[in-house]
Amino acid sequence: MTMSNNNTNKKVVDANNPLANLDEWEMDILKRYPDPSAIATNKKTEEFRNYAAEETDTVKEFYRLNHTHQSYDFVLRKKTDFLQFNKKEMPIWSAFDFLNELVDDSDPDTDLDQMQHLLQTSEAIRNDGHPDWMVLVGLIHDMGKVLCLFGEPQWSVVGDTFPVGCAYSDKIVYPEFFKNNPDYNHEVYSQKFGVYKPNCGLKNVHMSWGHDEYVYHMMKDYLPEEGLYMLRYHSFYSQHRENAYAHLMDEHDHEMFKWVKLFNPYDLYSKNPNQKSWAELQPYYKALVKKYLPETLKF
Ligand SMILES: [Fe+2]
Ligand SMILES: [Fe+2]
Repeated sequence: MTMSNNNTNKKVVDANNPLANLDEWEMDILKRYPDPSAIATNKKTEEFRNYAAEETDTVKEFYRLNHTHQSYDFVLRKKTDFLQFNKKEMPIWSAFDFLNELVDDSDPDTDLDQMQHLLQTSEAIRNDGHPDWMVLVGLIHDMGKVLCLFGEPQWSVVGDTFPVGCAYSDKIVYPEFFKNNPDYNHEVYSQKFGVYKPNCGLKNVHMSWGHDEYVYHMMKDYLPEEGLYMLRYHSFYSQHRENAYAHLMDEHDHEMFKWVKLFNPYDLYSKNPNQKSWAELQPYYKALVKKYLPETLKF
């Protein structure tokens, strides 16, 4: 990634990609929602907080770009393009290799590659005795970040997600940045319900574009609905943490969000320095992937 880094004063070289790496956004979430119970972690909440505090400028700029550009029309354009899945076909394992290219080795704060985050999430789920499809969700939930490798900017791949085509909630992080969004003063999109009907159900709602929506569509024929909700809404913090969009949800969404909420702590707090090696874990995960997914996936 085109970024110079001298610890105290990070200079943004690529104006469209302010984060040193995608983990900076996730560290910022930890600052907002620190671990209440310290599940499966030896690292103190305070350490995560300190890390995140140093990242404020680049993360803030990242949110500014995200909120400026994630409009209703933008989302529809991205869906039309990427949901054709005509970019590449590969086994899931190649996608993980692909993902690991996202790590910026010039960043001394990042000691984990994307695959480690996925394995730590899935292993924490497995250790708690959840169903195997949920373990698989842990393994693949961030696979949509391969979007970066198709030339998508960071703000179109990661970040909190939220509905578009209706008013942006002030419960979304940095709500003031939505003032720059073309939909902010739109006569329909700026309204509470916008293009939607009250409690129409999230199946009828377009979410901001990113790795969550992308991986949901990729997996929708292969996993139980509970798992699909986890994939699709895992970054929808303004709902699963703040309950800001209940007016668009139906009864079924509320039922399914119990699973989204169950998944979230595994995503955020499952950092484990004593993780088993990939060599040890591989047989289990190869079999798990084989059970649910085809040999190759379309991207
Ligand atoms: Fe994610
Ligand atoms: Fe994640």
